[in-house]
Amino acid sequence: MIISRDRENVNKASILLVDDEPNALKVLSAIFSGDGYKVFSSTDGAKAMDIMDGQGIDAVITDLRMPGRDGMELFDFVLERHPGTPVIFLTAHGTVESAVEALTRGAFYYFVKPPDFLKLKKMLERAIGHRRSRRELEGLKTGPGCQRRINLTGGTDGMLRVAEIIESVRDSTSSVLISGETGTGKELAARALHYGGARRDLPFVAVNCAAIPGELIESELFGYEKGAFTGAYSRRIGRFEEAGAGTLFLDEIGELAHPLQSKLLRVLEERDMQRIGGSRRIKTNFRLVCSTNRDLQAEVQRGNFRQDLFYRVNVVHIKMPPLRDRIEDLPLLAAEFLNEYCLREDKKLLIPADMMETLQRYSWPGNVRQLRNVIERAVVLAPGGAITAGQLPSEILYFKRRRGLADTLKTLKELETMAVKKALTQCRGNKSKAAKALGISRKSFYKKLGGAF
Ligand SMILES: Nc1ncnc2c1ncn2[C@@H]1O[C@H](COP(=O)(O)OP(=O)(O)OP(=O)(O)O)[C@@H](O)[C@H]1O
Ligand SMILES: [Mg+2]
Repeated sequence: MIISRDRENVNKASILLVDDEPNALKVLSAIFSGDGYKVFSSTDGAKAMDIMDGQGIDAVITDLRMPGRDGMELFDFVLERHPGTPVIFLTAHGTVESAVEALTRGAFYYFVKPPDFLKLKKMLERAIGHRRSRRELEGLKTGPGCQRRINLTGGTDGMLRVAEIIESVRDSTSSVLISGETGTGKELAARALHYGGARRDLPFVAVNCAAIPGELIESELFGYEKGAFTGAYSRRIGRFEEAGAGTLFLDEIGELAHPLQSKLLRVLEERDMQRIGGSRRIKTNFRLVCSTNRDLQAEVQRGNFRQDLFYRVNVVHIKMPPLRDRIEDLPLLAAEFLNEYCLREDKKLLIPADMMETLQRYSWPGNVRQLRNVIERAVVLAPGGAITAGQLPSEILYFKRRRGLADTLKTLKELETMAVKKALTQCRGNKSKAAKALGISRKSFYKKLGGAF
């Protein structure tokens, strides 16, 4: 497991901290040295560049605004001289826009100062892990699978867990069930499993059980011999066979009708099958990965999904978190999509900070796919050559989060202020009456009134 190996290896990682504020630097140095990192630090960009050239640095955490050569210049230098070294920015509120711009150019993450140290630590760990797996991927550049690099973007706990499971089971033959709401990246995870593992040069065969009409799925999966049924003019190899020793991805397995569930179960148990109209038993050797946006366990209880098949497909379970539960990943994802569409449209655009905030407040029922669409639309439209928050769809722009308990609870002071104002209105501005109504003296009423306005 790369991630946990990285956690153990963190002791050996070298990091460079850059901040023109010596005290901030001291605090960060103490924290990361305490965690076992080899820490280099610098209060200016120029010296930081020398350190980059002289030492093997695994990750950089830098302030954005500094006198002399600033964080952005340092970032340009890293991109040019040390590509692949992750850079995390620490930024003041006023410079968030530049940090977001840096994300679109490949910076790893940004934190608004003062950063949450726990999150910063996690993100650094993730950055170093990312660099290592990227290096490993570069080592694979000669293999035929290399052009299919699958990137599951995200650094939050939920995504780290997903990445950890993928790392640990990618080479095994156990069946994997990937569940999650629509657009959370189930298919992407299935591809990451395949292309990140030992089967990367073998076929990845995807069958969408929701899109193929029920009566056609059987011939799609099993294939048929010539003359097996009317219209079977020639032999056709099915998806089971096509997958060979690679991966068979059954997308939306919850949609599979009962008779087919039994047939699939047989194939999984016997590890062989027959083409429709054929008599020869053909060995199957694929690794099964299934996805579902339903609660498959509940479907079993309702009698819609065979329990024995459920156990067969659910050996390893990966649950994709909804975007609203990992909203800290949104700027990274948005930057990735912005890059992609700017490249396609040949445009140079930025996401303004207020728009990023609006995006992070939204609930994203369509998850990452919806975010991708919103960014694509913003890039394509970009009236006047710029993206603005105002062009967002109104359901995002005017989204009001449902108030949680924490939001509805008011402080005592707020309640007091409300009571004072209400009493005053009810007593038509007569302060003595209002004080009496509240059961307090005129003097203390005046005091509270002072606080209220
Ligand atoms: N972690 C991620 N990083 C980058 N892109 C992502 C990520 N997760 C999802 N996407 C993108 O979001 C879109 C939807 O992903 P995908 O098709 O894998 O979702 P899904 O869960 O299979 O959706 P559905 O349930 O609708 O089939 C794709 O364009 C994919 O590239
Ligand atoms: Mg899907």
